[in-house]
Amino acid sequence: MNKLILVTGGTGYIGSHTVVELMNEGFDVVIIDNLSNSEKSVLNGIAEITGRRPFFEQFDICDKKRLHDFFRIYKKLDSIIHFAAYKAVGESIEKPLMYYQNNLTSLMNLLEGMIEFKIPHFVFSSSATVYGQPDQLPVNEEAPFKTADSPYGNTKQIAEEIIRDTVNANDNLKAISLRYFNPIGAHSSALIGELPRGVPNNLVPFITQTAAGVRNELKIFGDDYNTPDGTAIRDYINVVDLAKAHVVSIKRMIEQKSKSDLEIFNLGTGKGSSVMEIVNAFEKSTGEKLNYKIVGKRAGDVESVYADITYANKELGWKAEIGLEETLLSAWNWEKYLRNKKR
Ligand code: NAD
Ligand code: UD1
Repeated sequence: MNKLILVTGGTGYIGSHTVVELMNEGFDVVIIDNLSNSEKSVLNGIAEITGRRPFFEQFDICDKKRLHDFFRIYKKLDSIIHFAAYKAVGESIEKPLMYYQNNLTSLMNLLEGMIEFKIPHFVFSSSATVYGQPDQLPVNEEAPFKTADSPYGNTKQIAEEIIRDTVNANDNLKAISLRYFNPIGAHSSALIGELPRGVPNNLVPFITQTAAGVRNELKIFGDDYNTPDGTAIRDYINVVDLAKAHVVSIKRMIEQKSKSDLEIFNLGTGKGSSVMEIVNAFEKSTGEKLNYKIVGKRAGDVESVYADITYANKELGWKAEIGLEETLLSAWNWEKYLRNKKR
């Protein structure tokens, strides 16, 4: 399909992997990114993998006038995949207005543009964070939102409501909201991956940096959860598998297969892994020994969450295919690539 797709946040972690999968499927891509949490060199990695270079526009989507000018130039947009957002949970607690401002203004500007310029399809990056600690596991899309633990989590809940109200009020607009569980790993080429700024908050970048000697030790947050080995459980999904679900979602809307104007899908593997299992799988797949110690729980962490993926399997015909060890090895190969580049 040679339709033109706008990918906001397309030089970011999940965005860049999705751009690759879109281009591999023949889509044309234009990226908007203000590079607040990514680098322009990501475009080189994308070009090296796909043999093509996406269009790139560097600006802030919160700048409504600039976005309007963009829509006037790129008249043939078929769909928008909206990744651009701030995503650091701790920072959102310290600077809530910065998060509400960026994550919600950007969304509303885009939706207004879609209505004015008649762009019919929208895919939104939501998060499993909307579920908090669910009452039932695995958690399905019908589970109620829990009070958000952070302004970041709240922006995802509010965003889904904004999207729902907007598609309800506009006949020609369709949207799919994808609730990601824990995306990890990197492209198998090790040419693109996650670029955490400063000390990583997330488990896998912290593991790879510890193995690379950048961090002294991994702190495992709590071993007295009510889980088989006492450490917390999450659903870790390979970022390339995750990226492919976006391509499937776009095609679903283009082929008019949506069952409703806003569809919501969990994107996970359906399998929970404990922190200790991740550490063991990393050591096994890479042959690296990890220095770690058990410390107290991290405030705000839930005990266990993993996805019910029945609906995504059935409706999207999509499921995660890459195993945990291969995924952790890809994260390690990317870390080594980054270290070599810095030398
Ligand atoms: P990322 O920070 O790597 O990518 C986001 C990109 O958006 C960055 O390149 C950043 O420069 C850009 N950006 C931010 N605000 C912008 C703005 N106003 N205008 C233009 N560009 C802007 O993050 P990611 O991990 O790729 O996450 C992508 C999306 O998925 C986010 O919406 C995030 O909340 C959501 N999500 C991520 C995870 C995860 O674990 N990574 C989990 C659940 C949901
Ligand atoms: C975090 C965010 C969540 C976001 C998700 C994906 C919080 C509270 N939640 O989820 O909103 O959607 O990332 O980006 O930040 N762990 C350690 N040591 C570490 C780091 C993590 O033991 O150094 C543990 C955590 O306690 C958790 C698991 O590893 O049990 C995964 O942590 P992390 O990668 O930060 O993701 P989440 O907390 O699930």
